[in-house]
Amino acid sequence: MKYTISNLAASAAIVGSALAASGDFNVLTMNVAGLPEILQGNDVPGDKTVNSNTMGSKFSEYNYDMIHVQEDFNYHAAIYETDSHPYRTATSGGVPFGSGLNSLSTKYFFNYNRVKWNVCSNASGNDCLTPKGFTFRQRLTNFLLPVRVKVDEGIYVDFYNLHADAGTEPDDLTARAANLKQVADYIDVHSVGNAVLVFGDTNSRYSRTADAIRVFRTQNGLTDTWVELIRGGVEPTAESLCDNPSTTNYCETVDKILYRSGATVDLQATYWNYESSKFLQPDGNILTDHNPITANFTYNPGTTLRHDVPALAALSKPKAAALTVRGANRLDGVSVQLADGTTFAHGGTGGTAATLSLAADEFWTEAVLCQGQKDGHTRNFYLKATTSTGRTAEAGTSTSDCLTSTAPAGWQIVGFMGQDGDEVDQLAFVYAPQ
Ligand SMILES: *[C@@H]1O[C@H](CO)[C@@H](O)[C@H](O)[C@H]1NC(C)=O
Ligand SMILES: *[C@@H]1O[C@H](CO)[C@@H](O)[C@H](O)[C@H]1NC(C)=O
Repeated sequence: MKYTISNLAASAAIVGSALAASGDFNVLTMNVAGLPEILQGNDVPGDKTVNSNTMGSKFSEYNYDMIHVQEDFNYHAAIYETDSHPYRTATSGGVPFGSGLNSLSTKYFFNYNRVKWNVCSNASGNDCLTPKGFTFRQRLTNFLLPVRVKVDEGIYVDFYNLHADAGTEPDDLTARAANLKQVADYIDVHSVGNAVLVFGDTNSRYSRTADAIRVFRTQNGLTDTWVELIRGGVEPTAESLCDNPSTTNYCETVDKILYRSGATVDLQATYWNYESSKFLQPDGNILTDHNPITANFTYNPGTTLRHDVPALAALSKPKAAALTVRGANRLDGVSVQLADGTTFAHGGTGGTAATLSLAADEFWTEAVLCQGQKDGHTRNFYLKATTSTGRTAEAGTSTSDCLTSTAPAGWQIVGFMGQDGDEVDQLAFVYAPQ
């Protein structure tokens, strides 16, 4: 199943197809300097456990919708102890086992996956993981961590956290360029058509021309929020290092927040800021050697398709010409054939098929989906499709737990999102204009 915003990991079989909502959210990225004190003090005064406790309580106090942390190693528990975000990734371990990357969110997210860098460099210390022993430089074992966030009803965004290779020796630059290219390639494969946010520690600067940070713009169509909102859309070529805490947003840090809209969601960055002054110890000292950065975004449903799938996004005016539902005790399969011949078929071939051929001016406008329990799991049991002229096709066994999805006026069902196997495990409907 490749076609979707898919792999909905929700436990229920029914995924509503309510119209997508509008609103705003904000994000923070912060390198929390969580290497063991004995290896790396990060030139931060105070006790790391105490400082990590403080960071966690600031995360809660300011309640950012999504926080990406890097170097979250040996003081991870102290951050989570005082933070109260409801959705958080589990630590992958301290030094030298973990990636140091975690996500803390007010929004439900799923599908997260840690991916290791293919290339690392030992040029500036040991950025590569060694099987035995470690030096403090091994903090940069360097993974990226994409998650799919349900920002709101019908609004999904792919979030990528990363920590790229450090240093400025030629081998470091080569490794870092390979890291960023690896993320860009991953986005090309896994986030086709989707809205994307990449935020984390890139260890890159636009002002270092050998740094490959521009790959996100050139390959993925991402916009850097700092370049857009603070630098008037112009990538700097002259170096402008920051103090910590930074007193100006104008200077450039290696931590970045980049984004793009998707077929189903429009994103617009509205605010960018160094949050350093919000993350200080009681005595005014810094908590970490990086300036944390934040950005705000507004989101709106995409203008072309609702609950789109990339295959549909490539078509100019999709319309269902025929649909088939299959079922017996439960729902076995669904398929729709578009007027141009494109077919989306999901589930298995069991059960009895009911088929409808639609007239040129007839659209699939409504679906009733019923779920029930099978072997302790929630499954789809029944689907009834209704067209704009009131004709129906149904399959499976109706239950008392049903949801009706009706395309908004002037819209029609042209495809699906969900998860399938021999049966249709999860299902939602994709709408396009008639
Ligand atoms: C940024 O977004 C957060 C969360 O939606 C909101 O509370 C805050 O007021 C926003 N800040 C600005 C400057 O827009
Ligand atoms: C980095 O150094 C370690 C320890 O000496 C070594 O095992 C590893 O192969 C090196 N990696 C690279 C890419 O040079």
